[in-house]
Amino acid sequence: MTEAGAVAAGSGLPRHEAERLLVVAAGRTLTPFEEVDGETMEQFASLASRRRNGEPLQYLEGTVQFGPLELLCDSRALIPRPETERLWELAVKGSVPETVVDLCTGSGCLALATKHAVPTAEVHGADLSPDALGLAMENGDYTDLDVAWHRGDLFEALPDRLRGTIDLLLSNPPYVAADEASALPIDVREHEPTLALVGGRSGLEIIERIANELGDWLALGGRFLLEIGETQAGAALELFAPFGPIVHNDLAGRPRIIEGRA
Ligand SMILES: C[S@@+](CC[C@H](N)C(=O)[O-])C[C@H]1O[C@@H](n2cnc3c(N)ncnc32)[C@H](O)[C@@H]1O
Repeated sequence: MTEAGAVAAGSGLPRHEAERLLVVAAGRTLTPFEEVDGETMEQFASLASRRRNGEPLQYLEGTVQFGPLELLCDSRALIPRPETERLWELAVKGSVPETVVDLCTGSGCLALATKHAVPTAEVHGADLSPDALGLAMENGDYTDLDVAWHRGDLFEALPDRLRGTIDLLLSNPPYVAADEASALPIDVREHEPTLALVGGRSGLEIIERIANELGDWLALGGRFLLEIGETQAGAALELFAPFGPIVHNDLAGRPRIIEGRA
């Protein structure tokens, strides 16, 4: 048998990644001098090989932290990102919306974290992908948070009764241009769903469709926050001009979130 520290060091992975995968393999944290049993070694070898081939660490771990929530995470949906967490923080700070919609919900992260922060809200999450929606529903059960899930193309997924009633609309839509997808890191382009990434030929197609339909769905004074690509702020400010938009930077100072009101 070999000690955990040596197993991690010999894996060909950055040490912190190897240590996290050892926790997955063993089902608990091992100390560096603890002997690793045969079954754990086998499980770890398989996980390490998948990681060396580019599978994201979060998919291999099976869970991810989003704000206050631990969520299930697998290849059915995009891995929730820190900039989306920032969008959620801005959305719930000092606001108590009654009706909330998360369009393009993926794993359900924005919808569920908002329901957690504002338990009195009626929260809806919608997505075109049945796979993503399946994961969002599992996350609803996993977190024991009550969100209504809908499948369909953008606003078409929503019950008609929500027209003109939404106090807070959140969305992290696909916004990568089709011909830029091949430049994404390999972990992303080969393992995360293309439908979650590519927003049409220019990357702005889905954002433009949201801008065109938003006015029919927001309540008077209703607010929206939408994640955008770092080069899209100018175009997005024009598309959302009727809503008095402002842009927020992410933690790295890049313009990544647009906000406005009906
Ligand atoms: C960038 S991912 C965001 C997922 C999640 N909200 C997050 O922040 O991690 C975009 C999501 O939009 C969904 N999607 C793509 N086109 C859509 C459409 N036309 N209508 C609804 N959802 C769509 C994808 O399936 C994917 O789950």
